[in-house]
Amino acid sequence: MKTILVTGGAGFVGSHLALRYKAAHPESRVLAFDNLKRRGSELNLPRLKAGGVEFMHGDIRSPQDLLAAGKFDLMLECSAEPSVLAGYGESPAYLLETNLVGTIHCLEAVRLNGAGIIFLSTSRVYPMETIGKLAYGESDSRFVLAPGQTVAGTGPKGFSEAFPLEGVRSLYGTTKLASEMLLREYVHAYGIPGVINRCGVLTGPWQMGKVDQGVVVLWVARHFWKGKLSYIGYGGTGKQVRDVLSVEDLFPLIDHQAGRLDQFRGEVFNVGGGLETSLSLSELTAMCRQATGNSIDIASVPENRNADIPYYITDNTKVTTATGWKPSIAPYTIIENIARWIRDNEDSLKPILS
Ligand SMILES: NC(=O)c1ccc[n+]([C@@H]2O[C@H](COP(=O)([O-])OP(=O)(O)OC[C@H]3O[C@@H](n4cnc5c(N)ncnc54)[C@H](O)[C@@H]3O)[C@@H](O)[C@H]2O)c1
Repeated sequence: MKTILVTGGAGFVGSHLALRYKAAHPESRVLAFDNLKRRGSELNLPRLKAGGVEFMHGDIRSPQDLLAAGKFDLMLECSAEPSVLAGYGESPAYLLETNLVGTIHCLEAVRLNGAGIIFLSTSRVYPMETIGKLAYGESDSRFVLAPGQTVAGTGPKGFSEAFPLEGVRSLYGTTKLASEMLLREYVHAYGIPGVINRCGVLTGPWQMGKVDQGVVVLWVARHFWKGKLSYIGYGGTGKQVRDVLSVEDLFPLIDHQAGRLDQFRGEVFNVGGGLETSLSLSELTAMCRQATGNSIDIASVPENRNADIPYYITDNTKVTTATGWKPSIAPYTIIENIARWIRDNEDSLKPILS
């Protein structure tokens, strides 16, 4: 019987992976480990229980807490302060202590257990300035990457792992890149089987979207409750583009990697929705209107805010070639699923999302 320790296991990604892993491998023991820092993560506790996932209140900043989790075979590392705005205009202490020092504790727990690790990293490891300086055209609803880019790893399908890493990337992105580097050293020094997935925007039901993180859910929720929204930055017209990956689509990849950790030892993959599941904010607005039946006025703030980028689309070529995995859920289906989840759980979600 295998034991899977899911750090951040009450969070959006962690709870989904924990529940799906337990459902796919009922013989395994799945332990969700979380300090419940993220508002709304507590709503996942009954879901975890109902799905046969154990829960332990613990903090990755504490090696003792990780020790108390007991023996495990595989860690899915999903705990983080996941906001790209974290640390700006405030102390970076929590971000650094969780996303960086906490990773060290996680890697030590993995080493001491002779376990494997799948690390959820981010596309935010790629520097903002390089992304911002690429040549873009404009359609009516979105920015479009101009053809003939000269920056490595940039092409019609988006950004690949060859995108240059030199430059400032946000405090959040730096904690993730530093964590990746340490993980790869642990792979090299101790032979631990570890894999890194640099994810673009992930979304779906049970994401507790807020202004600084989880924008797709925030957008649907603000439409649902007729709240306030603004297009911030890049002229304030909502043309900035991201690819979105449904968390439902992420699990098959994680499960595939978990079953073949030796094959992927030390590998880094860009993982995202790709060009076909990309959206601009203004296109997202149109989908939210359709899915909720509500229209709201959206304010315009032309000035850019900290750590923003106009465009990010994942080139999934490496991960698809290595694993056969590719995303399957279209953006409007994702938006509809989120709208249905909000409607079905209106009372419990309102204090958190509205
Ligand atoms: N959601 C995205 O769009 C996205 C994109 C790329 C990468 N990621 C990465 O995926 C992982 C999961 O993100 P998410 O979207 O589920 O975020 P989330 O905030 O929903 O989940 C993170 C969980 O970690 C917990 N946590 C925070 N600090 C902790 C600590 N010190 N000890 C133990 N638990 C702690 C929180 O309570 C929360 O439940 C993160 O590593 C994030 O950086 C997320």
